[in-house]
Parts: sequence; C-alpha cells; structure tokens
Amino acid sequence: MRTLIDIVEMQSMADGLRKQGNRIGFVPTMGFFHEGHLSLMRKAKELSDVVVVSLFVNPAQFGPGEDFEEYPRDEERDSMLAMKNGCDVLFVPGVEGMYPKGYATYVQVNDLSTVLCGASRPGHFQGVTTVVTKLFNIVKPHVAIFGQKDAQQAIIIRRIAEDLNYGVDIVIAPIVRESDGLAMSSRNMYLNRKERAEAVVLHQSLLEAEKLIAAGERRAHVIREAMKSLITAKDSARIDYVSILDADTLQPLDLLQGRILIALAVRFGKARLIDNTIMTC
Ligand code: PAF
Repeated sequence: MRTLIDIVEMQSMADGLRKQGNRIGFVPTMGFFHEGHLSLMRKAKELSDVVVVSLFVNPAQFGPGEDFEEYPRDEERDSMLAMKNGCDVLFVPGVEGMYPKGYATYVQVNDLSTVLCGASRPGHFQGVTTVVTKLFNIVKPHVAIFGQKDAQQAIIIRRIAEDLNYGVDIVIAPIVRESDGLAMSSRNMYLNRKERAEAVVLHQSLLEAEKLIAAGERRAHVIREAMKSLITAKDSARIDYVSILDADTLQPLDLLQGRILIALAVRFGKARLIDNTIMTC
C-alpha cells in the first residue's frame, strides 16, 4: 500500500492507472476506521482493480461549535487497517492543500440538503458535496462506495453524480452494526457507559417501525410516535428528528407508500447519532 499526501501526485497516479486500463475504486472517509469503513474497502476491492481510500477530516462539513477539533483521529492504526482490508493507495491530503488561502468554490445540492441533518446542521452537506467533488477530481474513480448509515448523504451524492455527469458509479453498502444493533460510527466513542447502553434504542425503534409496518400500519404519525416513545424513555436521549420520507425525494410522508426511508438523529450526551432503514410498502 502506498500513502500519498500530495494532490498533484494523486492525480497523476490516477491518470497513470487509468491509462493502464485499471478500474479505480474509491472509498472517501474521515478516518478512525471501524468495521463499517473496512466493509466499504472490501466492497471496493470486489468492484475494482485498484482501491484508493481517502482519509481527510473535512473542516467544511463541520459547523461552528461542532466536533471538528475533537473528531477522533488515529492515522497509524487506520493505515494498518486499510492495508489489511484491500486498500492499495491511502490518500491523506492536508487542509492547506484541499482549502488553500483564497479558496472560494462550493457545490450545493438544493432541497435535499436542507432537510433532516441539513436542517440541524446548516452548511453540512455543502461541505460534504464540495469535498466529494474535489476528491472525485483528484482520485478520478470509476466507482465510489458510501455507507447506507449516512442515508441522506448517499442520496445527495447520487444526485450530484447524476446532475454533474461525474461518470462515477455510486455504490451504497449496507449499515454495519455492533452485536446489540447499534450502527457502527466513529462518534460512538463519545458515549459513556450509560449512553452506550441506551443508544441501542435507535435500532430498536427502527425494528419497532418495521414491525408495525409489517402488521399493516401505514400512518406515518402512528409509527413516529411509537418510535419516539421508545426513545424518550431513555434518560440520556434527546431527539433531533424521527422522520418518515420518500426514499428518493426526501419528501415527508403522511401515508406510507412506495420506497420509504425512516431516518432518525438523536443526541446522547456529546454524541449525535444517526440511523435509518429503507422499506418498500
Ligand atoms: O461519510 C463521511 O465520512 C464523509 O462525509 C465523507 C463522505 C468522507 C466526506 O468528508
């Protein structure tokens, strides 16, 4: 595995790989790898000849007062895990390289970016779409893998890839969970013992929603209330949103029909956790 920090060097390596007929698979990350990230790398390996993983904690997607400074980092451990899970090139650009003095260009996806996490984290998705656009221009992948845990991000990335004619296949890989159901996230490390135990309710509330739907319930407010009452029964949980939406347009639904996304964001102490499920009704 090679580690590159220089943007121009990464671009010329990508050009060379393409010229030799290689298919480039790309996994963009902010590091502090867990099994969720590693599963994306293994998926990329299945789908391509050369796997590039980027490791960049992107300041543009953190709002004022968010956890940019504290976001967990461990490049040495990440590098070892990436190597063992199929990564051929680890790309670790610096903030000064990605956003040099005078940087002024941002990519904004309308509508999809202002609901759910976009409503509570203004500017977050503009930061994501900007950095993903830059990374695509640097790594020049044929296929890029994202996780379903960030469901809204996945929908937005598909949108920019289509709208801006990236020519990159976007693959969304399933959520990876701990044995008790908690979705894996780098932010789980902020949880204290009580919060960690209570955070399992996120997955439990999604299972409850699935159970109600399987039993024939189609009224969104009934399902949302059932989920909320499970979550608010936990001392440390503070709901940001529990939403039921069309899985493609992110329009809120009153009655469930078609492909639906049930998404939630809940704070446990310092950690703001998200989870979701997609179903067809
Ligand atoms: O999902 C993430 O880790 C980030 O949002 C991403 C896609 C790497 C962009 O910084």
